[in-house]
Amino acid sequence: MTKKMAKLTLEDSNEIIELPIHQGTIGPDVVDVGGLTAKGLFTYDPGFVSTASCESAITYIDGDEGVLLHRGYPIEQLAEKSDFLETCYLLLNGELPDQAQKAKFENGIRYHTMVQEQLSDFFKGFPRNAHPMAIMVGVVGALSAFYHDSLDITNDEHRRIAAYRLIAKMPTIGAMCYKHAIGQPFMYPRNDFSFAENFLHMMFSTPCEEPKVNPILAKAMDTIFLLHADHEQNASTSTVRLAGSTGANPFACISSGIAALWGPAHGGANEAVLTMLDEIGNESRIEEFIRRAKDKNDPFRLMGFGHRVYKNFDPRAKVMRQICDEVLDDLGVENDPLFRIARRLEKIALEDDYFIERKLYPNVDFYSGIILKAIGIPTSMFTVIFAIGRTPGWISHWDEMISNPYRIGRPRQLYTGHARRDYPGK
Ligand code: SDX
Repeated sequence: MTKKMAKLTLEDSNEIIELPIHQGTIGPDVVDVGGLTAKGLFTYDPGFVSTASCESAITYIDGDEGVLLHRGYPIEQLAEKSDFLETCYLLLNGELPDQAQKAKFENGIRYHTMVQEQLSDFFKGFPRNAHPMAIMVGVVGALSAFYHDSLDITNDEHRRIAAYRLIAKMPTIGAMCYKHAIGQPFMYPRNDFSFAENFLHMMFSTPCEEPKVNPILAKAMDTIFLLHADHEQNASTSTVRLAGSTGANPFACISSGIAALWGPAHGGANEAVLTMLDEIGNESRIEEFIRRAKDKNDPFRLMGFGHRVYKNFDPRAKVMRQICDEVLDDLGVENDPLFRIARRLEKIALEDDYFIERKLYPNVDFYSGIILKAIGIPTSMFTVIFAIGRTPGWISHWDEMISNPYRIGRPRQLYTGHARRDYPGK
């Protein structure tokens, strides 16, 4: 099949530059601009709105159709039929596991959930009111200090062990952040609990009584982790890839992803949604906040709305809204005032020309916070939950890059500063 080419004509020299076009399995073709440097040209794309930073086979998003596929499987089907650890296996290995592979993988994760005992001492250095994401960035980055045996990134087995350790230890460290904040003893993970049950156990159990985990909440927690598992080249995943391209160890790379996720424009939005709903307070004030969100002079944005890629409903938000209905109903809080405000806010925004013209829809963060609050998770822990869920995505992209030929990521710039000038003579 003849290769498709793009032709770039430079007006001042009438030169025509031919650039190869690469085609994916599905989705937009890409113009390979690597040859421009030899012509003394860079591309310019702040925010990487139109830039494909890599080739990947893990996740596909069609923002216009509201489609999200993990290794080809629609997120709606995975949320209904799969579970978080099976989805982790799928992201890492490219195929769904058979029963034996699934049991082996679950066991592999189960026996890596404990952290080195001296890691607990780290927490003593943080104030009780430290934001848990600040602790996560520090403690996860420090894991490399304990695992010298799995830091040869060229070794497949080392990469696999590091992936297991990170997926398994994130909930343990996340729960430790919460226990540190409330002054309760850390709870050890239990091998007779599932991934999500274990997390809720480590969050809410105490040594004073036998752990009790509500299976409905555990199922909702598992699905929330699953819905956050991966999302193509989002800001935090791109950060992990860029850190990984320098050869940094996987623990340092995931720590960089946690730091990037923290921002309110990204993973920090779930915490910001709850803060916004609390600030709105009741349905009578919704119009005021919609007005503020549309006012160019007001920095306020409707948190949980809009997306760089989705110009239709975020398919994860649809599943999240359904879980919200179910969990609040099961807990007998279906009249939760925040949920009522959120539903009304969504309805009004979706009928408003400003949001319609800009194709702004609820994203994954709009409903997740309401469910997490209903489960009893404090708002400050919401982005930690996002980080726990996103770890398999981060580590799958890191592994995909490292196990294929790659180069260090090093963007260029459009320089608009001073031309050369001499230091004033004395
Ligand atoms: C996540 O990339 C990913 O995949 C991320 C994520 C993942 O799974 O990894 O999906 C998770 O980060 C979801 C997004 C969570 N963030 C929020 O909910 C914060 C609120 N949303 C916005 O900050 C914004 O929508 C972004 C950051 C999500 C997207 O920003 P873009 O793509 O740069 O869009 P933009 O800022 O250029 O906005 C386009 C227009 C602008 O108006 P005009 O200048 O054209 O008149 O839409 C407006 C914006 O002002 N706009 C909003 C808005 N979002 C965009 N106006 C009011 N409220 C909003 N939320």
